[in-house]
Amino acid sequence: MCGIIGIISTNEVSSRIVNSLKKLEYRGYDSAGIATLVDGNINEVKCEGRVDILEKDILKFNLKGDIGIGHVRWATHGKPSKINAHPHSSEQVSVVHNGIIENSTILKKFLEKKGYVFKSQTDTEVIAHLVTDYLKKNSLKNTIIKVLKKLHGSFALGVIFKDRDDLMVGARRGSPLAVGYGPNENYLGSDSYALKSMTNKISYLEDGEFCIIKKDQIEFFEGNGVKINKKVMNLSKEDIHYDKGDYKYFMEKEIDEQPSTINDCINEYVDRYNNQINIYNFPWKINSFQSIVLIGCGTAYHSCLVAKYWLEQNTNLDVSIDIASEFRYRKVRFKKDCLYVFVSQSGETADTYAALELCKKNKMKTCAVVNVVESSIARDADLVLPIYCGQEIGVASTKAFLGQMLVLYILSIKISFDQKFITKKDYQSKIKNLLSLSNSAKKTLKLDHKLLNIGKVFAHAKGCMFLGRGYSFPIALEGALKLKELAYVHAEGYPAGEMKHGPLALIEEGMPVVVIAPRDDHYKKTMSNMQEVIARGAKVLLITNKNKDEVVSENIWEQIEVDKLNDELIPFLVTIPLQKLAFYSALEKGYDIDKPRNLAKSVTVE
Ligand code: F6R
Repeated sequence: MCGIIGIISTNEVSSRIVNSLKKLEYRGYDSAGIATLVDGNINEVKCEGRVDILEKDILKFNLKGDIGIGHVRWATHGKPSKINAHPHSSEQVSVVHNGIIENSTILKKFLEKKGYVFKSQTDTEVIAHLVTDYLKKNSLKNTIIKVLKKLHGSFALGVIFKDRDDLMVGARRGSPLAVGYGPNENYLGSDSYALKSMTNKISYLEDGEFCIIKKDQIEFFEGNGVKINKKVMNLSKEDIHYDKGDYKYFMEKEIDEQPSTINDCINEYVDRYNNQINIYNFPWKINSFQSIVLIGCGTAYHSCLVAKYWLEQNTNLDVSIDIASEFRYRKVRFKKDCLYVFVSQSGETADTYAALELCKKNKMKTCAVVNVVESSIARDADLVLPIYCGQEIGVASTKAFLGQMLVLYILSIKISFDQKFITKKDYQSKIKNLLSLSNSAKKTLKLDHKLLNIGKVFAHAKGCMFLGRGYSFPIALEGALKLKELAYVHAEGYPAGEMKHGPLALIEEGMPVVVIAPRDDHYKKTMSNMQEVIARGAKVLLITNKNKDEVVSENIWEQIEVDKLNDELIPFLVTIPLQKLAFYSALEKGYDIDKPRNLAKSVTVE
């Protein structure tokens, strides 16, 4: 993952590099560093921990320089520490890197034999020494070409050179890299977000390419050194000023934004006047595919899992789902009549991107459901369906999960109607129901007060379970994932009907268990499963929806009731209390809610 920024200018750059690194912390936050050129010499400041610490050190050090590179790290090779923080420098060059150099051990041995001494345990340091070594006998451009050939694995690189305050180099294989164009200065960034405060003119490097960036010019090359031209894109300005507002945490804000992000997304896809769904750029005839495969990682995968139920319910497609890191290495039988859908908030997740590339290589029909429309996945897919939920900063995905489910639901009813699987009346009634979703989400957010106290119990539990059937099963998985990643509590999501096949053995006196049981076709069965865990000592938090009847069950510890909506829309509503539960559990423990330990927002390594 890791974040990269580089600036070459006629003014001092360190404070702007620090500002960009603060924005990039969502990509990694275990250590940070910066290197600039002062009188032709490389100067480094690095620290373990957050960019705030780096900023203080830079002030102490009074770091000057009109050209520099900066980095926030998510450790892969070597534990988080000052010595392992990037940049990694020799006397001649300084390098920042996102990705993994798979042959670093072999390269290190080769360089050590030549007398190079390594200070860190990182894979990145080999790049600094390798560049230094090739520079002895090669021009700068040839050095880059030769070094890139030597490196195996994935990388985005930023490099500055001693005595060359006129240029910096960027290179990419596997991990994304953007360049930005400014007035008498230019930039390098691991994504456009880092550059948005400085410019809205951006180009992206494609796999295998490198670039030489000067103050007034950027040259792009294929890996073999052949010069190429690049399109300059204009970025939208809308996300530039996204901040916490009156909230203490981005996650809290992002949960509360959901009613409006639902509305924004619906406004993009639903023609309220004609009561129909518009996906204008849908490039295929509806009969050209008989099956659909949905692919993602983590929370995005959970949205695929919910969509499987919708698509099976509403279309005659054969539906499969896959975890991207598994899909990309399996012997997949590609089918011409299949639509492959890639779901990713960031649009940069390495495994999801690799799965997309594999499908493209096999000439499959591809569709991306993403939040970041300038991302690699969005750029490479045949069809892009944005989720329109705005920048998501909290590492734990919340509003993007609802956005992903929403777009997948909209896609499923669009296909359903186009396939004539449902009547026009049913189609329009589904759309009408959808229009009330935002309001029901708003009401669900008000169930907050109870969850604050419930969260205190979950926070201190040894372990807990999340159970559901049907649509509520993937939501149980998502609820468990949120609690794990935010409150560091061991949590398992299970289909409620599976408990008696093993996991029931884990239930003991006082164990908190969330049962998600809306009044749908599964309700009675789930109620029985709930009683089975209560009988074994579980403290059950029941999440259901309102109904005229009382809940027909006993001995429930706590209960949350969301609105009564069409069954298909219940996954959206029952997710919200689970997000809040994880939030309050983490709050109770005083954990860093927006940046949980060991994680990062954009997972650009395998
Ligand atoms: C969990 C979470 C992750 C991401 C996963 C995929 O809260 O955010 O599980 O969902 O890393 O990320 P994207 O959606 O960017 O591909």
